[in-house]
Amino acid sequence: MTTQATRAVGVDIGGTGIKGALVDLEGGSLLSERVKVATPAGAEPDDVLAAVQTVLDTLGVTDADIPLGVAFPAIVKHGRTLSAANVADTWVGFEAEKFFEDGLGREIHFANDADVAGVAEAEYGAARDVDGLVLLTTLGTGIGTALLHDGVLIPNSELGHLQRANKSSDFEHWAAYSAVEREQLSWHKWARRLQRYYSHLEFVLSPDLFIVGGGVSKHSEHFLPLLDLQTPIVPAVHRNNAGIIGAAALALAHDGGTDASAAAGDLVAETD
Ligand code: BGC
Repeated sequence: MTTQATRAVGVDIGGTGIKGALVDLEGGSLLSERVKVATPAGAEPDDVLAAVQTVLDTLGVTDADIPLGVAFPAIVKHGRTLSAANVADTWVGFEAEKFFEDGLGREIHFANDADVAGVAEAEYGAARDVDGLVLLTTLGTGIGTALLHDGVLIPNSELGHLQRANKSSDFEHWAAYSAVEREQLSWHKWARRLQRYYSHLEFVLSPDLFIVGGGVSKHSEHFLPLLDLQTPIVPAVHRNNAGIIGAAALALAHDGGTDASAAAGDLVAETD
């Protein structure tokens, strides 16, 4: 049975959209509709805060007793954002967690978007009970990565920003789903880029499993079968909801937790 103690709200701030839902952490599923608003142009802190408030108001979850997790597309250490690849430069070195807590008038738990997606897949999805090294990649506006070893997150891996050999751009710029939109790439052309990216990751990390998340993972049949890798590669079970679910799981675990979030609680210590 879902009780107050097994629910939390997850909000996933992305380069193009801000999504949120109420989440059941017993089963790792959404309890409400998924609310989505566009990420404000420029993604300055005040505008992003207002958009997050809109998501919470629309969901009707303004009760500060329900734990709230917020995922953000940047390096997050001790509540501060330390990078800004697809958001305003203001976020670099910014006390983001405190900014959201002050602005929303409540506690939150704040973490990197790909890392929380990794937590969701480790708890409730494709990385569950997988030993060894799992690398989750989210293919969206940017490329986010979560490294999990024996189910434990190694936070802030940022492997989308690996530099391509002898090129001025990184893999994110060349192989994220935004490159498909920007350059109108066919699935085959994109898959050739993904092949280079995942082959490189495979060589430098020797992972046991790749998981592919982000909105485009719901169309994975168009590109994953085109890849030729030694490592199994599968779509994220929670697809584009992994960020929402993982953010909520970390928030609940921080809040005291339940059996359902106990393992996520082990990961929380790693992300702080
Ligand atoms: C950011 C990462 C983020 C990823 C996906 C990258 O540009 O540097 O922190 O996880 O985009 O949003």
